[in-house]
Amino acid sequence: MISLPKVFSKKNQPEKTVPAKGSQEQRTLGDGVLVIKDLLAPSAIEVDFNHLRIDNKYFRSLFVAGYPRFVNANWLSPLINFDHTMDLAMFIYPVEIKGTLDDLRRKIAEMEAEIATDIQRGKVVDPSTKAKLEDALSLQEQLTKGVERFFQFGLYLTIPGNSVKELDETTKEIKSTLGSLMIIAKDATLQMEEGFQTTLPIGDSKLNITRNMDTTSLATTFPFTSSELTANEGILYGINQHNGSLVIFDRFNLENANSVVFGKSGSGKSYMIKLEALRSLMMGTEIIIIDPENEYEKLAEAVSGEYISFGFGSSAKINPFDLPQKYTDQNQTLQENHLGFKLLSLQSLFKIMMGKMDSDEEAILDRALVATYKGKGITPDPASQKNEAPLLEDLYKTLLGMETAKAQTLSNRLEKFVKGSLVGIFDQRSNVNLKNPFTVFSLKNVEGSLRPIVMFIILDYIWTKVQDDLKKRVVIVDEAWYLMRYKDSAQYLESIAKRARKYYLGLTTITQDAPDFLASPYGKSIITNSSIQILMKQHPAAIDQIGEIFYLSQGEKNLLLSADIGEGLFFAGENHVAIQVISSNEEHKLVSTDPREKTAKLKVPEEGNKTVQTQYQTQIKPEQSQNQNPPNQPSKSTLGANAPKPDSQTANNTEFVENETQPPIKINTNLE
Ligand SMILES: Nc1ncnc2c1ncn2[C@@H]1O[C@H](COP(=O)(O)OP(=O)(O)O)[C@@H](O)[C@H]1O
Ligand SMILES: [Mg+2]
Repeated sequence: MISLPKVFSKKNQPEKTVPAKGSQEQRTLGDGVLVIKDLLAPSAIEVDFNHLRIDNKYFRSLFVAGYPRFVNANWLSPLINFDHTMDLAMFIYPVEIKGTLDDLRRKIAEMEAEIATDIQRGKVVDPSTKAKLEDALSLQEQLTKGVERFFQFGLYLTIPGNSVKELDETTKEIKSTLGSLMIIAKDATLQMEEGFQTTLPIGDSKLNITRNMDTTSLATTFPFTSSELTANEGILYGINQHNGSLVIFDRFNLENANSVVFGKSGSGKSYMIKLEALRSLMMGTEIIIIDPENEYEKLAEAVSGEYISFGFGSSAKINPFDLPQKYTDQNQTLQENHLGFKLLSLQSLFKIMMGKMDSDEEAILDRALVATYKGKGITPDPASQKNEAPLLEDLYKTLLGMETAKAQTLSNRLEKFVKGSLVGIFDQRSNVNLKNPFTVFSLKNVEGSLRPIVMFIILDYIWTKVQDDLKKRVVIVDEAWYLMRYKDSAQYLESIAKRARKYYLGLTTITQDAPDFLASPYGKSIITNSSIQILMKQHPAAIDQIGEIFYLSQGEKNLLLSADIGEGLFFAGENHVAIQVISSNEEHKLVSTDPREKTAKLKVPEEGNKTVQTQYQTQIKPEQSQNQNPPNQPSKSTLGANAPKPDSQTANNTEFVENETQPPIKINTNLE
């Protein structure tokens, strides 16, 4: 049985190129002209009962004859992600509702009659008829109301193979995959040629084996909803473990640009965020990092960023009393009153610095703060806020001058900051600016108990500065649990998460201490105000709480418990994907903090270094020792094992319309 499908017909019919009544010579001439189809077409196509052969390739076409009654959204993903090449064709035909409703009415009448007869005869009513009747009635209602529309759907596939044996094997596998979805697929026996043509990308169905579906059911057949997070723009976050695609994403396209990262220590949180920072920087986003563990120095150095280290004797200074200095263009006056928010944040700050206060003391502090600003001529009037801000010492003096016993104790409690270990850092005019597109604030030299305070001051300073000029910025707070330790700093972090969007800012909060974070109402609010949520490997003790807050399925929980370094779940808006964070060798050298690799010296990529350095000068740390040592980098494979992933879909059941008005399947065995 050999025939040529029309699409591959070897040559134009002679009468099309040459006039039918032309001379014999003309016809011969037309036949002898080589057209492009002659070059492309196979010399022959062999059509057999159950396969088709083109040159040395074999093909088999299948059609889908039976569908399940219930399906999940994205139920076709096992087919789409099937590990074998195949051509898949879906045909969707809208159907006129009028005719469908007539058919439905008749069908409903039939079924009702059948049930009535059964009851009359004292027989048990067939439950399947009852179910069908219910489906038909609800469909009728939906169609009449216009909630749903009606379609016919055909699904066909063509599998290629190098031999008939391979075809048989693949067919078996596909059929069993489909069988697990309760889809019945059949070979298009004796219609291989039509089947092949149907799955060509020309939109021509020759098989016409369809199934009725309403809009909802049809929507679930859309194959590419498979937790896919590949956008046209953005940066690479990692590999989607579900289907091997890339997770590319621009956080600034979401409702807000905040993200939270949870994972136990060493799970790869900082690693991932460093990669994100590096890649975002390349795309023009400014990065500001608060780094308590001194992890980001290498990276800052490599991109010619500014690395500002705080601690005893360091040259960097921040004045927590600074106010945003945003001017209108023409008359150089401030547009907004920033004093109110500043007073609130200062109050929170001093509550952490000075410890618990009663309400009297709070009131005194409040009055002292207002008076301190007033002493510098700064009032709620925006114009006055251009004046030079007061210093910590001014507050100290104001408290001393208040001469009540409580004010005295407050000034005593403040004294250690004016004269103690932090002297010279937060009691002088700021000399730090955020002009460099990559700025790291390091707390390496700050004693542990002071870290929350210093982090607070830095964060507040960043917040003050980002209001001055709006730019696409990401602020990364690593080890954020330091801030979550105190109610006031937790509240402050939350207020920034809430307000960040307005200032084109994305706040990244990284923490290993999930239970504490989740137990705090401010922590929960930070999570709900973060469109991106990243979960890395979790501790068994924390998993239930995490599962509850993030609505994880059992499969997702298992994934988080057994995740390798760099693996986790990535939630962006509604989408959940299992992700594996990967880096290039060059990136790995910059972002890894594995102590085993520490001995190997870093080689700074030259190009990136040059381009950024010409534009921005390092301002505070002038003598950054660039590594002169010969490069000696271990090239470590960065990928963990590709663990199999549990199904992470949690979609609702959607019901198929039971196929009552469908005409019998026609299989045209008519071969030309
Ligand atoms: N995706 C990854 N690929 C390769 N190595 C990684 C990956 N993530 C983390 N690591 C390794 O694990 C170390 C610890 O990761 P890190 O991000 O610092 O953990 P933490 O979650 O405590 O911040 C890194 O220094 C790096 O060597
Ligand atoms: Mg870390």
